[in-house]
Amino acid sequence: MTEPRKLYVRSFGCQMNVYDAQRMTDTLAKEGFVETDSPDDADLVILNTCHIREKAAEKVYSELGRLRKAQEEAGRSQMVAVAGCVAQAEGAEIIKRARAVDLVVGPQSYHKLPELVAEAQARRDGNGKRAKLVETEFPVEDKFDFLPPPTSAAITKRGPAAFVTVQEGCDKFCTFCVVPYTRGAEVSRPLSKILDEVVRLADSGVREITLIGQNVNAYHGLDAGGRSANLAELVRRVAEVPGIARVRYTTSHPRDMDEELIAAHGEMPALMPYLHLPVQSGSNRILAAMNRKHDRELFFDIVEKVRAARPDIAFSSDFIVGFPGETDEDFADTMDLVEKVGFASAFSFKYSPRPGTPAAGMEAQLPEAVKSARIHALQALLDGQKAAFDEGCRGRRFEILLEKPGRFPGQLIGRSPYLQSVVVEAPVEAIGTLAMVEVREVSTKSLSGDIIGGEFFAEDSKWESRFTRQSEKLEA
Ligand code: SAH
Ligand code: SF4
Ligand code: F3S
Repeated sequence: MTEPRKLYVRSFGCQMNVYDAQRMTDTLAKEGFVETDSPDDADLVILNTCHIREKAAEKVYSELGRLRKAQEEAGRSQMVAVAGCVAQAEGAEIIKRARAVDLVVGPQSYHKLPELVAEAQARRDGNGKRAKLVETEFPVEDKFDFLPPPTSAAITKRGPAAFVTVQEGCDKFCTFCVVPYTRGAEVSRPLSKILDEVVRLADSGVREITLIGQNVNAYHGLDAGGRSANLAELVRRVAEVPGIARVRYTTSHPRDMDEELIAAHGEMPALMPYLHLPVQSGSNRILAAMNRKHDRELFFDIVEKVRAARPDIAFSSDFIVGFPGETDEDFADTMDLVEKVGFASAFSFKYSPRPGTPAAGMEAQLPEAVKSARIHALQALLDGQKAAFDEGCRGRRFEILLEKPGRFPGQLIGRSPYLQSVVVEAPVEAIGTLAMVEVREVSTKSLSGDIIGGEFFAEDSKWESRFTRQSEKLEA
């Protein structure tokens, strides 16, 4: 029997890339590739890249350089593929800039990986050189119709919380952003296909589903009757799937937070009380220049309505500082918005001009020193809010989903409703169950607590873990 070929996939960027990487792995598993955790012994290395900021995009080149050096030192020549958003944005440029690349494949074409890899291999076998194939068209077919589903073993290996892409691409064209160019126009997957995928995941033990999309609340997939279903309906249908206990969605745009979705937060206990809602800036002038299509008042209004529907909700957001033309007053408006709302967590970035986007060509680009000073001030404020939110959890009781073994034997790590990591003492057989905890300690990275009940711990518990074998492997 021939040895199975080994595949190493490394993902950068957002959760959509994490999901895509899993689907690439599933697709290549059918071709006999098995996953390995190290690039060193891989026959095929895939870098699944992100183009959102310059630093993210440059990472792929340092990674390719490192790979090439390691290959030269070891005297081997692995097949190397560049996938994801840098592949889409730069295409053949990548092959010109980095010699050690066989294959460039965009985010809408990776269902073709089996044929592309075979073709690249055939060319290599023919002339001993790297193939240099580029596949970045937006194909007419839907890649999801060609991607094989994950095996039950692959699902269990990935743990009880899973991502499902429900919508891709973006038609919003914020002036700073590459996503509409790298991912293409907004497309929603049909409701029934998403539900099939969720049922399959649930059958293999998945308990929590995060519905993902670049603009997830713009979801408008067709249902069985050919009617368009919105995100509120999708969330409800997913929550009804037997075994699914928790639902989340990300990333939302304020403009698409409709009344039904807001109401859903009050009506569906399975919908976790945590909402990532990027606002980018607190200045109406900058929001307009960013083409965000809403003002700060709309954001306040949404926050208020969601809080009214679900009083224990917590918010997180994304911010950009140093957008072209941002004045001290504009920045003060951002700080003011943060103070008024209060975030449980947040991501904040210095504006990075991206090739081909309108903002990159705007005059009044700000000096690095101004961006740095502003990001420090903003992050200090946000870090303080996060610390206060975490501290406020001390003594609180909430349900966590036990996801994986902790650092020490006898420990498991679970996730709170607010996505905080919570360390508890519990046996590996409890992975994949919901446990009630009382939070005892709070640190910057995680909470820890005592289990006071839950599915596995109930006296009449009939729980049989599907995750034990994977946990033993992880613990060994
Ligand atoms: N679709 C999501 C987020 C997409 S990208 C949304 O609409 O919010 C994730 C985050 O990266 C953005 O929210 C933004 O804060 C940041 N980002 C995007 N382009 C950027 C750029 N050119 N410079 C700095 N940060 C950027
Ligand atoms: Fe980018 Fe704006 Fe679309 Fe988000 S909504 S992906 S920030 S263009
Ligand atoms: Fe990056 Fe593409 Fe996601 S640019 S953030 S990987 S959509």
